[in-house]
Amino acid sequence: MVRHFVSLSNFSNNDIEALIQRAHFFSIHSRQPDKIDHLLKNKIFANVFYEPSTRTRCSFEIAAKRLGADIINFVPENSSVKKGETIYDTLKTLESLGVDGIILRHSDDHIFEELHHQFELPLLNAGAGKYEHPSQGLLDLLTLQQEFGNLKDLKIAVCGDIKHSRVAGSLLVAAEKFGMEIFLCGPEALIPTHLKSFVKKVEFDQILPEVDAVMMLRVQLERHANLELDEKSYHTQFGMNESRLNRMKKNAIIMHPGPFNRGVEISDVVVEHPQSRIFKQMSNGVFTRMAILEWASKGIVL
Ligand code: CP
Repeated sequence: MVRHFVSLSNFSNNDIEALIQRAHFFSIHSRQPDKIDHLLKNKIFANVFYEPSTRTRCSFEIAAKRLGADIINFVPENSSVKKGETIYDTLKTLESLGVDGIILRHSDDHIFEELHHQFELPLLNAGAGKYEHPSQGLLDLLTLQQEFGNLKDLKIAVCGDIKHSRVAGSLLVAAEKFGMEIFLCGPEALIPTHLKSFVKKVEFDQILPEVDAVMMLRVQLERHANLELDEKSYHTQFGMNESRLNRMKKNAIIMHPGPFNRGVEISDVVVEHPQSRIFKQMSNGVFTRMAILEWASKGIVL
């Protein structure tokens, strides 16, 4: 069976918990090569990113290397894509060359739906359009689990460009599975109109004192045709700053998948604040992707 990693909706709660547990194991042992550097020895993965990335691409690369695997970075701009090669042909080429898994980011929401059944090696979703970013979703769950010890009944506010966010896409899938309550905040035009029962649209300033975590999201200007953003006014209305942070519970945390625009959706002070888990999320990205690469190669490891 080929283990494609496409959406968190394809996983049972038990399997997600096992992946989180495995990522937690890697967080403890990531600097102990003798314990882990043989786990994916002789495997070769390919990073294939048709959209820019810092965190996801680099953390998959580090994750592979920590487990003893090799990884190649395919750059569409310097490849035969420039001569008209289709994505199917590029991925088939990499499969024929012998890679053991392809980590793919693409702007098309449906790219995995279209491609995955045509490949005999794992395709791993590193962000698909506005659909899902499941490895980000998993690292966010790991961060919440480490912080609160459980996921059930957590109250999470998500603020920003939710309509265009694949990060929110995966978080909502996970929230429904684990019984979290989600509050959406931000400009009306950037919030989806159809919401499930565990999701409520609320005023940002009103919900702050009640939530365990706030996930701030960037306005994805690259996915808007005609949006003009007045950064100062956006920050005043929806930005996370020190005064808003002071209205939250003392054990509540701030999250952001990155990249973040300091001074727009989040202030400098909050990025670096003791209640911010933004850099923790980044570190967890490596451990989570180690668990995902291992799962794609071997299945659930307990
Ligand atoms: N969070 C995230 O996906 O960041 P990158 O776009 O840098 O990979």
